[in-house]
Amino acid sequence: MLHKNQFIDEPSTHRPIRSFVRREGRMTKGQKDALQRYWPRYGVDTQESYLDLDALFGRNAPCVLEIGLGMGDALVEMALAHPENNYLGIEVYRPGVGALLKKLVAQEVTNVRVITEDATVVLQRMIRDDALDTVLIFFPDPWPKKRHHKRRLIQIPFLELLGDKLKPGGVLHMATDWEDYARHMMVVMNQVTEFINAAGENNFSTRPVYRPLTRFEQRGMSLGHEVRDLVFNKAAYERSISSKPSTPSNPE
Ligand SMILES: C[S@@+](CC[C@H](N)C(=O)[O-])C[C@H]1O[C@@H](n2cnc3c(N)ncnc32)[C@H](O)[C@@H]1O
Repeated sequence: MLHKNQFIDEPSTHRPIRSFVRREGRMTKGQKDALQRYWPRYGVDTQESYLDLDALFGRNAPCVLEIGLGMGDALVEMALAHPENNYLGIEVYRPGVGALLKKLVAQEVTNVRVITEDATVVLQRMIRDDALDTVLIFFPDPWPKKRHHKRRLIQIPFLELLGDKLKPGGVLHMATDWEDYARHMMVVMNQVTEFINAAGENNFSTRPVYRPLTRFEQRGMSLGHEVRDLVFNKAAYERSISSKPSTPSNPE
């Protein structure tokens, strides 16, 4: 079985299978300017060593990671609504990061940092184990064609990697408007034993109040898609059986 620190290779090319297609897209002048001017304030360059999150944010606070922040609207809204949290965003689409930077500056947000890199690389190389309080993955690319399902971000090795990076008791929250992706998420989450479904086995969660309406959600809803949230907790005990809290023995 594939290990969480490996990438899945495309057999014909031996190139790793990615959950995204690198596309620069059309960047507006405003996005380009924002990237140039504000990257030093909010951006985090890819590095080969673990980040010191307290140093990065200049304080010790719960760390929420959003993977695939798109144009950043939800991230800005959450960061403003919850100044008590640190928010780290990851997005490979640079025009989206440019758009995010513009909003961060306009709204004088101080509790957000952003990385432009494949989330798998960031998690493997830059995030220590047990460092994150919450991971948010809102409307990951659905890759609807069957031959593209292997590109879906939510796969067992990736979830195991997230499990390592979350603190015990930490939250993994995903949302999607693609029914078969939602069911796939539920199936694979059930196979990663360190996660516990906050809504009870096999149940989708009611939308948590902190989740803003995102762009892709709006698009999905306009197509008549139903939105599903999955909220799981990382078990509060270590994975190895020996470190689980022991049951008190019966004195009889
Ligand atoms: C369908 S969009 C959703 C964007 C946003 N969350 C929303 O709901 O509007 C998915 C985003 O995830 C990004 N993405 C996909 N795979 C990624 C990866 N491995 N690392 C970082 N970003 C990724 C894509 O570039 C895209 O912007």
